[in-house]
Amino acid sequence: MTEQSPALDNLLTESRTFPPSEEFAGQANAKAELYATADADREQFWAGQAERLSWDTKWSQVLDWTNAPFAKWFVGGKLNVAYNCVDRHVESGHGDQVAIHWVGEPGDTRDITYAQLKDEVSKAANALASLGVVAGDVVAIQLQMLPEAIFAMLACARIGALHSVVFGGFSPTALRARVDDAAAKIVITSDGQYRRGKAAPMKANVDEALQGAETVQKVIVVKRTGSDLEGETPWTEGRDLWWHELVDGQSAEHKPEAFDAEHPLFILYTSGTTGKPKGILHTSGGYLTQTAYTHNVVFDHKPGEDVYWCTADIGWITGHSYIVYGPLANRVTQVVYEGTPNTPHEGRHWEIIQKYKVSIYYTAPTLIRTFMKWGDDIPAKYDLSSLRVLGSVGEPINPEAWIWYREKIGADKTPIVDTWWQTETGAIMISPLPGVTSAKPGSAQRALPGISAKVVDDTGTEVPHGGGGYLVLDKPWPSMLRGVWGDEERFRDTYWSRFSEQGYYFAGDGAKYDQDGDIWLLGRVDDVMNVSGHRISTTEVESALVSHPTVAEAAVVGATDPTTGQGIVAFVILRGNAVDGGDDAVQELRNHVAKEIGPIAKPRQIMVVAELPKTRSGKIMRRLLRDVAENRQIGDVTTLADSSVMDLISSGLNSGK
Ligand code: PRX
Repeated sequence: MTEQSPALDNLLTESRTFPPSEEFAGQANAKAELYATADADREQFWAGQAERLSWDTKWSQVLDWTNAPFAKWFVGGKLNVAYNCVDRHVESGHGDQVAIHWVGEPGDTRDITYAQLKDEVSKAANALASLGVVAGDVVAIQLQMLPEAIFAMLACARIGALHSVVFGGFSPTALRARVDDAAAKIVITSDGQYRRGKAAPMKANVDEALQGAETVQKVIVVKRTGSDLEGETPWTEGRDLWWHELVDGQSAEHKPEAFDAEHPLFILYTSGTTGKPKGILHTSGGYLTQTAYTHNVVFDHKPGEDVYWCTADIGWITGHSYIVYGPLANRVTQVVYEGTPNTPHEGRHWEIIQKYKVSIYYTAPTLIRTFMKWGDDIPAKYDLSSLRVLGSVGEPINPEAWIWYREKIGADKTPIVDTWWQTETGAIMISPLPGVTSAKPGSAQRALPGISAKVVDDTGTEVPHGGGGYLVLDKPWPSMLRGVWGDEERFRDTYWSRFSEQGYYFAGDGAKYDQDGDIWLLGRVDDVMNVSGHRISTTEVESALVSHPTVAEAAVVGATDPTTGQGIVAFVILRGNAVDGGDDAVQELRNHVAKEIGPIAKPRQIMVVAELPKTRSGKIMRRLLRDVAENRQIGDVTTLADSSVMDLISSGLNSGK
């Protein structure tokens, strides 16, 4: 039998259910009544959730949806997001509680208490202000998982500046596009980063990115790898500043100013269906309310008792919402780990869980499948008995991985929360509640209390139980995106035009209801690929490929991959119609994509072809290419302009070209 793909696996009827133990249910933060309470009066419910935060001025209206799809939540309310994540915990007597157990890849560690966090964030806020950064300015941050990344984000929030965090693995070209799009005034980075035991330069890439970037006035550099790097850190006098020289001498006193609930908090770029990434805009009050609420109910987090670890990188939305904002608003004690999961050995995560007695662990299916591959004996060597809740995010989790996660990591008893959400939704939307839901492996199940989601057909009509279609969000939610940076039309087109009549938000995911009405996510229905939980658009990779001088045309598809969910497979036509690129040429193209976008976008496979399958109107039929990439029988070719093209592609590939 061929290997079952994770997505197809989901389509199978999964009959096992795992109800919470009585003990867990009894102590859980969220009880079953929460659904009914939220349904009875949604706005009232969200107003109650907003009470989790400290507001300088209370809102006068919970939701203003009159200018849909532009929502305003907690209208008239004012708060400081950083104060909510830091200062108030010190004021309530928890200054000595560890906020962050930071673990460096080489084994160095730092424990940072809330009192220390307050000092560091205040100093960084003073430092940014001393450089002339004011509310509304944009600060780009390209940093690996260092405490300074969190200090920097919170310092921006504290002074009302927007951060735009760019994943450390993104190329100079990708960084530059983001810096330019948001007209960033400051860039914060590091000299270098440890990756798989080696120090790799970071600042040199940032310098390359910023050549001629007119908006950037200062570059702040955190010293991390120091003398481990070959040669000196490249430096531009007058523009570049060391973090420690700039920040350490600042005053640790900084008065947080209250900003409007709708004051922009950050921009985070994500791939869409076109080549240009979208700057997703999030604001303050609603975002913090929903991240704090979901972190509390989905992970059953108990401040001062739990040790929480979300393994995401702060370069992605999961790092923003479930390392920085939600957890810190809830006075978390959390692990932040700098490195890769197999450095220096494949038991690194379990060793960290054992050492810090991690009780809540939140990771991605791709990593779970990797752990499975590495072998059951590895986690078995560690004491994982502190774990009481396990989470999953980023892509559908296949039942096999779900069961392995529960049995081998969760001692066959911890609840697993499979959380569906997106950069755009800002916070978790669909997920089991660990003390309430009888979990079904592979299904995210049900919209959280206060959230409304539906599976609809092409016409926007809800499908019956057992039916499949598109996932939509039919009611506004507090942490929803407030727009695409600088592009109102794209915001409307991408999310609100597909079901404009009904006013539904179109998520871009396929989904189905099972017979109980639980939701199963089936992957993207657009040209967005999901590789190891990272969103990459086919067009983005195609543009990178055709920017290489040897490439005439390119088509990219996401093919099912047993570990990464999807793998990138590219079909290219070379200039002069050369049919054999040769191994070197193909390797060169793979590297070119890595250089243009980042290593995460490197195609798994590149096939050189003479033709691409196109419809009469010239649209590439990716469906057929996916059949080739997944070694399947090729589907219906009747709409092709030239139906012999697929024979040509298949025979070329079979002959080894
Ligand atoms: O396709 C869905 C998938 O990831 C997409 C969102 O990607 P991104 O904005 O990068 O955010 C990832 C982390 C929140 C979605 O459109 N996705 C995310 N979580 C799940 C998922 N697919 C299935 N099940 C999930 N739990």
